Amino acid sequence: MFHRRHFLGIEGLTKDELLFLLSTAESFREISEREVKKVPTLRGKTIINLFYEPSTRTRTSFEIAAKRLSADAINITAAASSVAKGETLLDTARNLVAMRPAALVVRHPCSGAPHLLARLVDCPVINAGDGMHEHPTQALLDMMTIRAYKGEIAGLTVAIVGDLLHSRVARSNVLALTTLGAQVRLVGPPTLLPPEFRLWGVEVCTDLRRGLAGVDVVMALRLQRERQARNFLPSIEEYARHFCITPDALAAAKDDVLIMHPGPMNRGVEIDSQVADGPYSVILEQVTNGVAVRMALLYLLATQEREATEEQAEVGLHAPRRHAGALA
Ligand code: NCD
Repeated sequence: MFHRRHFLGIEGLTKDELLFLLSTAESFREISEREVKKVPTLRGKTIINLFYEPSTRTRTSFEIAAKRLSADAINITAAASSVAKGETLLDTARNLVAMRPAALVVRHPCSGAPHLLARLVDCPVINAGDGMHEHPTQALLDMMTIRAYKGEIAGLTVAIVGDLLHSRVARSNVLALTTLGAQVRLVGPPTLLPPEFRLWGVEVCTDLRRGLAGVDVVMALRLQRERQARNFLPSIEEYARHFCITPDALAAAKDDVLIMHPGPMNRGVEIDSQVADGPYSVILEQVTNGVAVRMALLYLLATQEREATEEQAEVGLHAPRRHAGALA
């Protein structure tokens, strides 16, 4: 069961909650296989996508998910909103929530931004990626994809390769994989390995071939150049020479290895085209599963009863909405 008001991260979720979310998402997948890809579940409800960072897959996926559930989906990108006029995140969110959406989907460059909104606005909040912190819906769609091919996640060995330091995808996936019983191996250059992962019960390897030896799944990560405040690498060519996932580097992995990438890919940098488009790649399957995961979450969060927290009541967010007699 899943009784949370918001979906902010994988951190803190129990194994049972994760399994419940995955089986709910799996039950939604079939709707996207129908000729008419629409059910009336969220008819009359509005979902707002508030994106302060570029996105192709995640934003489209949330929009399609909302529309397949018959909700009205509204997309707001920071550049085209009052953010450009200096409005704060909280003021923007409060104004949007005043229009009574059933859920607010937020992507923001600052870690913790969706968590702040979840405390201070009266609406379910879904984290669509916060800075270098978490990208929980990506982790769910990755778990769903692995389950579709491997059955169970428990007992698998999964290598996550590349820019682990700046990756919210890696953080959410490590949490999901370890909670579900997989063995995780982080593979990358020492400058891109976050030291705190050592505390999370994962292996760390700075050599690509050794890192891929015997693994069931390889998750490639994009080199997050926009988040690299200083030079973590001598050059892109140098990085690619040592860490690009090529057919040759994959030779040490299991024969039925799955190749994953959250997108957008830098072909020839973190992943070779022969691998990205090869027979073991499930990269587009991940995208397909993303819609089902987001349908499941929107369904679970947008159909719950409204209840103000004490903190929201304190800051006046649950004050009477109209004067008595206003409609008389
Ligand atoms: C990822 C992201 O934005 O965190 N992409 C995605 O949502 N599919 C990964 C990335 O940007 O590299």
